[in-house]
Formats: sequence, C-alpha cells, structure tokens
Amino acid sequence: MKKWILLAAVLLLVPAVLSGCGSKASGSGVITMRLAHNQSETHPVHKSLAEFARLTEEKTGGEVKIQLYPNGQLGSEREVIELTQTGAVDVAKVSASALESFSEVYSLFSLPYLFDDRDHYYKVMNSSIVDGIYESTKDIGFRGVTFYDGGSRNFYTKKQVIMHPDDLKGMKIRVQPSATAIKMIELMGGSPTPMSFGEVYTALQQGVIDGSENNETALTDNNHGEVAKEYSYSEHAMVPDILIMNQAIWEELSEEHKKAISAAAKESSAFHKIVWEKSIAKAIKDSKENGVTFSNPDKEPFQKAVEPLHKEFAKKQSTAEYYKRIREASEGE
Ligand code: GCU
Repeated sequence: MKKWILLAAVLLLVPAVLSGCGSKASGSGVITMRLAHNQSETHPVHKSLAEFARLTEEKTGGEVKIQLYPNGQLGSEREVIELTQTGAVDVAKVSASALESFSEVYSLFSLPYLFDDRDHYYKVMNSSIVDGIYESTKDIGFRGVTFYDGGSRNFYTKKQVIMHPDDLKGMKIRVQPSATAIKMIELMGGSPTPMSFGEVYTALQQGVIDGSENNETALTDNNHGEVAKEYSYSEHAMVPDILIMNQAIWEELSEEHKKAISAAAKESSAFHKIVWEKSIAKAIKDSKENGVTFSNPDKEPFQKAVEPLHKEFAKKQSTAEYYKRIREASEGE
C-alpha cells in the first residue's frame, strides 16, 4: 500500500489509540469495533466476516457492532497486525503465515504438507490444539479468536506448468512474507520472492515474478488468472486465515460480550466452510472460462523435497509439541 495512504489511514485512527482503546463505546453504550482485512467484498472470507459481524450484533442485542474495512484499505497484513497490536484496529483477519514473524508457533501453518487432507485440517482447527497458539500473542497485544478456511495452496505461473519441483528451477515464485514459505521454495529448487498480497498482480503482470502460490480465489477475486494461466495442484499447504483481536479490548469486554463474540466467531467459521466450497467450485469454473489450465502433478517429489523442514519442526522448541499433536491427530483416525 502506498505509504501516504497508510499514513492517512493511521492518522484517522490515532484518536482511538490515544484514548487507549480502538473500539468506541458511544453515549448509548454501543461498542463499535473496526475489522480490517485484505480481500474484496466478493471474496468468501468477506462474506463470512460479514456473517461474524451480523451474529455479533444479534447475540449482543446490538451492544457490539463490527465495521468491516476490506480491500486492504487499512494496510497490508503485516501493517494491520501492527495496528491491532496497538489497538488502532480492534479486529483483523490475516493469514497465519503473516503471523509467523510475530509468534513463531504460527510458522507451523506454513509448513508444507503438515495436514494430510481437509478432514485432518478441520479436525485440528476445531480442536483445543489451536487454543495455545491463539493465546501465544497475548503478551504482544493481540489474541487469535477463530479461523477461516483458506483452502489449499497451489502453484500458478504465467507460462510453464509446475509438474515437478525441478520445474521451479530458476523461477521467481512469490510467497507470503514467511520464513517457512521462503525455505519451502528454496528446498523445492525455486527462487522465493516474498511480498504482500496486494503487490502480486502487478508483479506478475510486469514479470517481476514468474508465478505465485495460493488458493483458486486468487485467480478470480484478485484477477491473477488474467495473467497466470497454469494452475497446478501441488497442494503444498493449507494455511488458515486467523481472526485476531486486540488483547486489551478483549479484556475490557464483559463476560457476556466475550461469550457472544466467541460464539459468533465459531458460527461464522462453520458458515465459511460452506461458503468456501461453493466459492472454490465457482472460481475453478470461471477461471477455466478465462483460459486457465488446471493440472494434477504427482505430489510425492514435492513432499520429499521438504522433508528437512519436517525434521526441523519436529525438533524446534517453539513447534515440537504442536507438531507432534497435529500429526497425531491424523494418525488417530
Ligand atoms: C490468502 C489469504 C490472505 C493472504 C493471501 C496471500 O488469500 O486468505 O489472507 O494475504 O493468501 O497469499 O498473501
């Protein structure tokens, strides 16, 4: 995002920070919270966040209202995490990958092939395993509230289809600003190019990068399919989107409001699961009509290439315990 726009956005939010609280209780006692995210209004995540806002208002009898700020208008994911830390933004939806540089345990979600499939992913994300991860940022100013399915991440490129890690050789692939995603591309043999989501379309168009990796909605809602025509199901990661909230604002809420917001968040995640499935089917159909080709490579060579990362995560102090529990959740089926 252009620095001056960001500066203007932040300046507008400054009075809230100075008053020690981003959320505003009006004379009538209504608490209004700002929720920032980087997707368009047509994106499934936006619809689920709108449902979260609706449910919060309903469950609190109109005492808590959530205002949505989509399209990255308050900044990139890194910037809105920082704004949520200070309380200039109350709530934000960001990718778990963007949280990695704030709390190392979130790096787990960028670990390629952590989850075996969607059932394993949902089993973990709906279990108590994630509670400790959500709480891990309490001391740095925010907490996780719930997750939204971000599908599976796959490679897409302008020209050459990626059927094997060898195809990545010499290719500049955009990744999220995540140390784990960077290592993944290096291990697979490509050149990782970290940048924020909002810059990817232009980077693809101008040839700054050869490709990127994301779920299918990036092709349609973010128009990447206009430029990148080869989409390949490596299914190397299932990175959830995480709803985060400023910790001080959370602590100031009454017990009833906390309960209502937690329930609204949970219900909106379940709502999202259904919206997501429909949106992906539509994104694939629309992309095909726009000339995108979908391919299914053998995943084994990709999995083999990233084995060293699994070994590292199984040992690393910040991830070892969670890695074990997440892997066991699959084996226990
Ligand atoms: C997904 C995710 C976004 C993230 C984006 C990215 O679309 O939902 O939150 O910003 O990936 O690759 O940066």
